[in-house]
Amino acid sequence: MPYTIDELIKKVDDQISELEIAGDPKELYLPVEYCLKNGGKRVRPLLTLIACDMFGGSVSKAMPLAVGLEIFHNFTLMHDDIMDQAPIRRGKPAVHKKWDTNTAILSGDVMFALAYQYMLKSPEKSLKQILEVFNETVMQVCEGQQYDMNFETIDNVTEAEYLNMIRLKTAVLPASCLKIGAIVAEAPENEIQNLYLFGELFGLGFQLKDDWLDVFGDEEVFGKKTGGDIVANKKTWLYIKAFELADSKQNKKLKEAFSNQIHHPEEKINTVKNIYLQLGLNDLAVEHMEKYYKRAFDYLEKIKIPEESKSNLAYLINKLIERKS
Ligand code: IPE
Ligand code: IPE
Ligand code: MG
Ligand code: MG
Ligand code: MG
Repeated sequence: MPYTIDELIKKVDDQISELEIAGDPKELYLPVEYCLKNGGKRVRPLLTLIACDMFGGSVSKAMPLAVGLEIFHNFTLMHDDIMDQAPIRRGKPAVHKKWDTNTAILSGDVMFALAYQYMLKSPEKSLKQILEVFNETVMQVCEGQQYDMNFETIDNVTEAEYLNMIRLKTAVLPASCLKIGAIVAEAPENEIQNLYLFGELFGLGFQLKDDWLDVFGDEEVFGKKTGGDIVANKKTWLYIKAFELADSKQNKKLKEAFSNQIHHPEEKINTVKNIYLQLGLNDLAVEHMEKYYKRAFDYLEKIKIPEESKSNLAYLINKLIERKS
């Protein structure tokens, strides 16, 4: 029987809050529990359950995989915050700040193994296929994260290179979460592919929004320190478009800021943010994201199941399009 979105949200929340993480040595497991149980939108496990449910599959069979995918996501965040030197995650000190970097490395490592432990609970019939999808996704996320770091020291990153980087680091995971849910439901191959492409396009819009929130978001609601991408010279759509649209004066200021000639981080953030605003990038980026969401929905339309079976997915995605965190 199909579930309402609120029922699925509750299932995911309950399942994750009931996870028994604590163990010895506590220095290893406490940070895992802290990371997993302190909020987060739970987008990825929801996508898995929704996809399974929309093709008439058993949500309880998909649940361990939903959990494994959320654990994997949280592991990537724990290591990402070290790499990005980000102090705040979900409104609280990031693990490497609350404890230290070594703790965040090792607790992250054990989370990765824990994620596999849950992925191994796939239905016998689809175990191999699901592990292959998962493993490929893990490697792609690492590839994306490496490009993200490489780009910090490269000025002339193109929009296409940026898109490929965010496809890898961010978009393939939600796409695979949907795919794995649909595999559990034994959905037709072509529909699984449509759903994957939907997820990938949505994921691109999702990272564009994350990059937008990093500059224009409200720190309290966003739960992360804003301006971090500017400080770290991250290549974002905003950065790339700013250089494309800037006049010579703005170009000079941007170059100064990003060549670290402005030493005070808040001053660097304000300088860059003001130029983004002068160039109208605040609105242009929102319009740009909407193109990806629209293209994503074109794939959802292709899927031949009753419209009401798509409503949970459409609802969740629409909420995420409007999100402030
Ligand atoms: C953060 O993901 C990392 C990105 C890929 C942008 P989310 O925005 O889904 O983070 P949580 O899990 O809700 O905190
Ligand atoms: C993160 O991108 C993607 C992964 C964690 C794989 P970001 O570095 O932009 O994510 P946030 O903003 O720290 O959540
Ligand atoms: Mg980060
Ligand atoms: Mg990062
Ligand atoms: Mg970000």
